[in-house]
Amino acid sequence: MSEQELSTGAGLNEIEQMDKEYVFGTWSYQKEVSPTEVVDADGVRFTTADGDEYIDFSSQLMCSNLGHSANEVADAVTEQLRRAAYVAPSYTTENRARLGKKLAEVTPGSLSKTFFSTSGTEAVEAAIKIARFYTGKQKIISRYRSYHGATYGSISVTGDPRRLKAEPGIPGTIKAPDPYAYGSTLDPMESVEYIDEMLELEGDTVAAVLVEPIVGSNGILVPPEEYLPRLKEITHNHDALLICDEVMSGFGRTGEWFGCDVFDVEPDIMTMAKGLTGAYQPLGATTVTSEIAEYFEENMLCHGHTYAGHPAAVAAGLAAIETYEEENLIERASEVGEYLGKRINDLVEKHPSVGEARGVGLFHGIELTKHPEKRVPFGEREDKISTGSTVVDEVSATAAEHGAYVANMINTLIIAPPLTITEEEIDEAITAIDAGLEISDAAMEH
Ligand SMILES: Cc1ncc(COP(=O)(O)O)c(C=O)c1O
Repeated sequence: MSEQELSTGAGLNEIEQMDKEYVFGTWSYQKEVSPTEVVDADGVRFTTADGDEYIDFSSQLMCSNLGHSANEVADAVTEQLRRAAYVAPSYTTENRARLGKKLAEVTPGSLSKTFFSTSGTEAVEAAIKIARFYTGKQKIISRYRSYHGATYGSISVTGDPRRLKAEPGIPGTIKAPDPYAYGSTLDPMESVEYIDEMLELEGDTVAAVLVEPIVGSNGILVPPEEYLPRLKEITHNHDALLICDEVMSGFGRTGEWFGCDVFDVEPDIMTMAKGLTGAYQPLGATTVTSEIAEYFEENMLCHGHTYAGHPAAVAAGLAAIETYEEENLIERASEVGEYLGKRINDLVEKHPSVGEARGVGLFHGIELTKHPEKRVPFGEREDKISTGSTVVDEVSATAAEHGAYVANMINTLIIAPPLTITEEEIDEAITAIDAGLEISDAAMEH
């Protein structure tokens, strides 16, 4: 798309033009916003106004875990809306109570009591406040390659470059290195010991360490098996809490209910959204251990929203979890995920511009490089907040021309299809990515 097209919106239909004129695009220089109208979505596919059909290989924003035809979830929402569209949070609904109980069952260990909100970022805001109230301490350690949301607390604990435009942010946030063997100078297990030293040097002032058990939008970083257990040990040795942000890695994405289940670790606080309803409604959840829950019997939980536990949203959450269970989608993600992993390995072997592929279940990243030995990236961290497109964007665009929507972040293609995807549909999308990777192969340094 030319610069001229970018600024005038040429090539957009009437609805897309109207949208561009009246609605802000997120995380964008507005001149570059070019919305595509989606008119239909079914199974793992969606269709745009000009009739093009795409396999949704990233579940939109890694959230449509149930695909686009979970009618039982849609029915549960409409049924609740007709019965009672809204009640204040001091009332309850059957769906809210049952969803709270269900989350206590599917989350690990003694995680048992939930605060409901409407998004991932709100789930993280609640986690930060709860950790501060409970420990009486202020600081939160999080990591550089992380995304925890756009509102002020969450963007302050976010490490990725989008934070920089919002700084200085809230006080008391500190960043730690990441378990990123491919791109960091520190070995992943050295990085966790570094956090131990940080906790030591901060004295007894850290309320919590907040991590995505498997980093999502910052590149699908899968830590070694021992990393998360060691991190929990370290945090508890320093009387700090471990918060696992499962907004992206939760609800079957990894082939387990939650990312922390891959490592058999029970956090003190867990945040959820996205797959919690399969994106059929906006819903966030912050679940805490019974010990933390008990603290708030005699201490005020000084937090709330008008839409905390919105009846339609919790109806979607309960119906979504029942669907994961009834259709065995968590186990399915693990099985189909093995096939996906094999097909991604085929791409690694064929394309020299693939630096590394990482992943588990139906949660994979393909990191690109201009130069495999020197590991020079095509996309830099600053690109995330600059104008223009990168070679990685062109790879995604070419995959789209071949029929697959694949999100990317900085230097990595993010592969996270609905858990309902079949092997044949995986093959189709892999063929489209194969075509996209010809672009990065051709752009390599020699
Ligand atoms: C790990 C993680 N936490 C929090 C968020 C924020 O969620 P939301 O966009 O629903 O506010 C995201 C969004 O991508 C995420 O990936």
